[in-house]
Amino acid sequence: MEIVFSSRHESEPQAWVNALQQALPEHQVRAWDEGRPSGQAQMAVVWAPPTALFQHEPRLTHVFNLGAGVDALLPLPGMPDDITLVRMEDGGMAVQMAEYVLHYLVRVSRDLDRYAELQAQACWRPLPDIDRDAWSVGVMGAGVMGARVAQACAALDYPVAVWSRSGRPVPGAQVYAADQLDQFLARTRVLVNVLPLTDQTQGILSQALFDQLLPDAYLINIARGAHLVESDLLASLQAGRLRGAALDVFAQEPLPAHHAFWHDRRIHVTPHVAGASLLSLSVQQIADKIQALGRGEAITGVVDRSRQY
Ligand code: NAP
Ligand code: GLV
Repeated sequence: MEIVFSSRHESEPQAWVNALQQALPEHQVRAWDEGRPSGQAQMAVVWAPPTALFQHEPRLTHVFNLGAGVDALLPLPGMPDDITLVRMEDGGMAVQMAEYVLHYLVRVSRDLDRYAELQAQACWRPLPDIDRDAWSVGVMGAGVMGARVAQACAALDYPVAVWSRSGRPVPGAQVYAADQLDQFLARTRVLVNVLPLTDQTQGILSQALFDQLLPDAYLINIARGAHLVESDLLASLQAGRLRGAALDVFAQEPLPAHHAFWHDRRIHVTPHVAGASLLSLSVQQIADKIQALGRGEAITGVVDRSRQY
C-alpha cells in the first residue's frame, strides 16, 4: 500500500517520511509531491494539506491528521465524504498543554508578574499568601487535552471543574454537562478553553460568558482563535471584568503586527505552541492504527463528521 505524507508546517518532512517508513516497512511511504502525484495513495498523513491532494489521489480511504483539531481539515473543498478522518490522540501534546496552563495559573495566582515588577524596583515586599480556594479553575472540554489539564491543576490542589457535552468524568474534577454551563461559569475564576472548534463552539468566549465568571477572572485559550470574540476580550479587560489572558491561538495566525493583543500588558501571547505533536509518539500511534486496520480491527480517534470533532 502507498502512504503519502503532506504537511505545510513541517520544515523537515523527510524526517517524518523516514520514521513512518521505518515503522511500516511493509508499505511504501513517500512525501506527497503536487507536481508528481501517483494517484495510487490509499492513506495520507497530513497537517494542512493542499486541496489538490484529494483531486489527485482518488484512492484515499484514510487521512491521519497530525493534530488533535480537525477544524481546518473538515471544510477542505474536494475531500470525499467517504474518507475516514483520524485525529491525533495526545501524541505528546497533552502534557505540554497541562504545563502551559499550569505556568499561567501559577503565575497569576502567585502574583509572579507583580514580583517581577517589584524586583525591577529592588523592592522586598511579600504579597498576601495564596488562597487556593479563591482560584477555582474551569476547563471547557474534558477530552484528551482537557482531562490532562484538569488533572494537572487538581494535582496542585486548585479546585477544578470540567465542562463537556456528555459530562464525562475526570478524576479530581467536578463535572458539568452541556446544560450546566451557567453553574460551571458561576464557580470559575480561571477559565481554560480546550474545546474543539465547531459550529456550536465558535465565538463561545464572549462578553456574555465572561460576565458569568467569578470576579477578577483570567482566561487561558489554548484551543482555537475562533472560539474567542477578540473585541469582547478587550472590552472585558477594559471593564475590569477580566484581569488578564494567556492566548496561544488567534483568529488570524500569525497574529498581525498591529494587533492590540501584542501591546496589552494584561495579555500574554504565544505563537500556537501550547502543544506540539511529537514525531516519535505520533508516528508510532499512526503506524499502530494502520497495522490495526490491516488486521481488520477498529481504531480510536475516528472523527465524527456530524459532531465536527
Ligand atoms: P477531544 O478529545 O475530542 O475532546 C473534546 C472535548 O470537548 C470533549 O470533552 C467534548 O465533549 C467537548 N466538547 C465538544 N463540543 C462541545 C460542546 N459543544 N459543548 C461542550 N463540550 C464540547 O479533543 P482534544 O484532543 O482534547 O483537543 C481539543 C482541542 O484542543 C483540539 O480540537 C484543538 O483545537 C486544540 N488543541 C490545541 C493545541 C495547541 O497547540 N494550541 C494542541 C492540541 C489541541 P464529549 O467528551 O462529550 O465528547
Ligand atoms: C494543534 O493545534 C492541534 O490541533 O493539534
